[in-house]
Amino acid sequence: MITTEAKMVTSETVINFDLETYLKDKKAIVDQALDDSLPIIDPEKIYEAMRYSLLAGGKRLRPILCLGACELFGGTQTMSLPTACALEMIHTMSLIHDDLPAMDNDDYRRGKLTNHKMYGEDIAILAGDGLLAYAFEFVVDKTENVTPERILQVIFRLGRAVGARGLVGGQVVDLDCEGKTDISVETLNFIHTHKTGALLETSVLSGAILAGASEEDLENLTLYAQNIGLAFQIIDDILDITATQEELGKTAGKDLTAQKATYPSIWGLEESKKQAQKLIDEAVNALTIYGEKAFPLQAIAQFIVNRKF
Ligand code: FPP
Ligand code: MG
Repeated sequence: MITTEAKMVTSETVINFDLETYLKDKKAIVDQALDDSLPIIDPEKIYEAMRYSLLAGGKRLRPILCLGACELFGGTQTMSLPTACALEMIHTMSLIHDDLPAMDNDDYRRGKLTNHKMYGEDIAILAGDGLLAYAFEFVVDKTENVTPERILQVIFRLGRAVGARGLVGGQVVDLDCEGKTDISVETLNFIHTHKTGALLETSVLSGAILAGASEEDLENLTLYAQNIGLAFQIIDDILDITATQEELGKTAGKDLTAQKATYPSIWGLEESKKQAQKLIDEAVNALTIYGEKAFPLQAIAQFIVNRKF
């Protein structure tokens, strides 16, 4: 779907990278930074609700992509960690709002009761709003050793990824399509490139921008990010059918009960897996020119297609 001419890295080369340790180390750094980012002050109720969802676990994929992309271009953690945290704040906000009764009406997220089940709908809406606003404040307040121009570019991309050109736009079309099983692959792609893809792309690109990557680098990373974004969603749809509630930490089989059109409902499970693997191969391919330095991001791409949760 999205192609590149660069030479393919064999999967063995990528598999040789110790991704498990890499993800564990990076997740620990992100979890600690998120914990530190949001002390409880007055009014305590809202900080507790914000912290409840922000610190509920999760793969921390978006922050790790940001840290990894920054490192690929010689940037440091001081430069990217605040943006990495902001990405998780925005992602968490979108999940709190997505789970609300007016949206997907879900009771469980990341293995725990959803925010509105714990704190009520009014506080859950405000907790989401609080996290969204704080994400931008946090980037400006905490980013170090980066020029204001680069920080502005990151803010621009974050705003675009959240608004109608990103999460909001994708969610609106997703809601419109509920109950319709005959939607086209193009519509499904629109939903997911906006609802999931936009923030994943921003995660990768913001890390690279903070490190001072060139326009050509950003083009390579865009290819990588767009391919992993779509593959991520295809795998999400597959897992909704094949994984258990315990594995997912949220209600399984939801797409079928909500009569949502998904990639497996259009292509079937096997073809969906094939399409996801094809996208991942293209993502890996887009970074081949960076050699070993790209192993972490390439291995993350493989992880997206092999993940079980
Ligand atoms: C999960 O999708 C939901 C998202 C990835 C984003 C939803 C976006 C919004 C609610 C817009 C929020 C933005 C603002 C500014 C309020 P899913 O329902 O397919 O996946 P799930 O099974 O994990 O719930
Ligand atoms: Mg949902």
